[in-house]
Amino acid sequence: MSDFTGNFWSVYVAALTLLGILGCLVLLWVTARKKVVARADNTTGHVWDGDLREMNNPLPRWWMWLFVITIVFGLLYLVAYPGLGAYKGELGWSTRGEYEAEVALANKELAPLYAKFTAKTPEDLAGDANAMAVGERLFMNNCAQCHGSDARGSKGFPNLTDTDWLHGGSPEKIKETITLGRRAQMPPMAAAVGSADDVKNVANYVLSLSGSPHDSLRAQLGKAKFTACAACHGVDGKGNQAVGAPNLTDDIWLHGWGEQAVMNMVNNGKINEMPAQAAKLTEAQIHVLTAYVWGLSNRPAAAKP
Ligand code: HEC
Ligand code: HEC
Repeated sequence: MSDFTGNFWSVYVAALTLLGILGCLVLLWVTARKKVVARADNTTGHVWDGDLREMNNPLPRWWMWLFVITIVFGLLYLVAYPGLGAYKGELGWSTRGEYEAEVALANKELAPLYAKFTAKTPEDLAGDANAMAVGERLFMNNCAQCHGSDARGSKGFPNLTDTDWLHGGSPEKIKETITLGRRAQMPPMAAAVGSADDVKNVANYVLSLSGSPHDSLRAQLGKAKFTACAACHGVDGKGNQAVGAPNLTDDIWLHGWGEQAVMNMVNNGKINEMPAQAAKLTEAQIHVLTAYVWGLSNRPAAAKP
């Protein structure tokens, strides 16, 4: 695919390139023609360092032919390879094509290995040290930038090594998450809760659910307001994986801990997205990643160090 958005710059670049090469030819032709009036002793009259005199000899033939060969080479190269604006070249070569051919070759070479992996269930695969080494590399290349190289996540990016799941920790659910991505959405809830004081009260009630430090009087006042949250987080606050609503009773905080953090969630809501990987990774790669992620919190006997 060409990076030119319009025809103008393509023609402009091609014309500049060809004019440059033509310029070289003209330079050679003009200088070959120019007669310098030499003196009887064939010197030009230029003298340096007292006695160093410049002779008026023509360029060596071999030098001139080298010059011509570079010009011919340049023109042939531009016919064969992309170089003249958007013109693709007769050989049809491109860095993208070369990359795709390499990936296709690598995928073909790895196919028998992946076939062995996909024949196993994720649970079994998690005990296969070979597969987990591949899984770790896939994770480092595709997931670590968000979930961390130790998969423990950070604010807004869930920890994948614990047993707390937003969307479910079974191999099926993990595979679904990786393949299709997830989009968790909590709307701003302040209006449904009431006054700013009510928001503060319900935040303290939420903190009380996990035994986190809180104002117990406010928590009692806030309890009734939690009905606005129950549709997603459950009446008991234990969450609902069908809508990706986290458990609020486990003292694990995706978006920060404390009264202010909870009030921010209620006031502003949150949209949090895990990008779908189906277009980026093969099904077999996702299968191995599923086993890898599942294995992080379900240490199978065989994989124990
Ligand atoms: C651009 C950042 C980003 C990348 C890259 C990314 N993730 Fe995620 N992932 C997220 C976010 C954000 C969430 C939380 C979504 C939510 O709040 O519901 C998430 C959630 C998940 C979950 C669900 C956790 C749970 O508790 O249910 C799994 C499993 C997961 N990611 C695995 C992966 C794997 C495997 C990869 C690599 C192929 C990956 N992620 C790449 C951002 C990312
Ligand atoms: C429409 C569903 C919905 C409603 C209603 C809702 N939430 Fe949420 N809430 C979510 C989702 C989904 C997330 C997770 C966002 C994410 O994955 O990043 C969340 C996250 C949170 C968090 C962050 C938890 C953490 O681990 O950091 C808190 C706190 C919270 N909600 C409190 C409340 C309170 C209090 C109410 C009621 C006033 C409420 N929510 C109402 C869907 C909802």
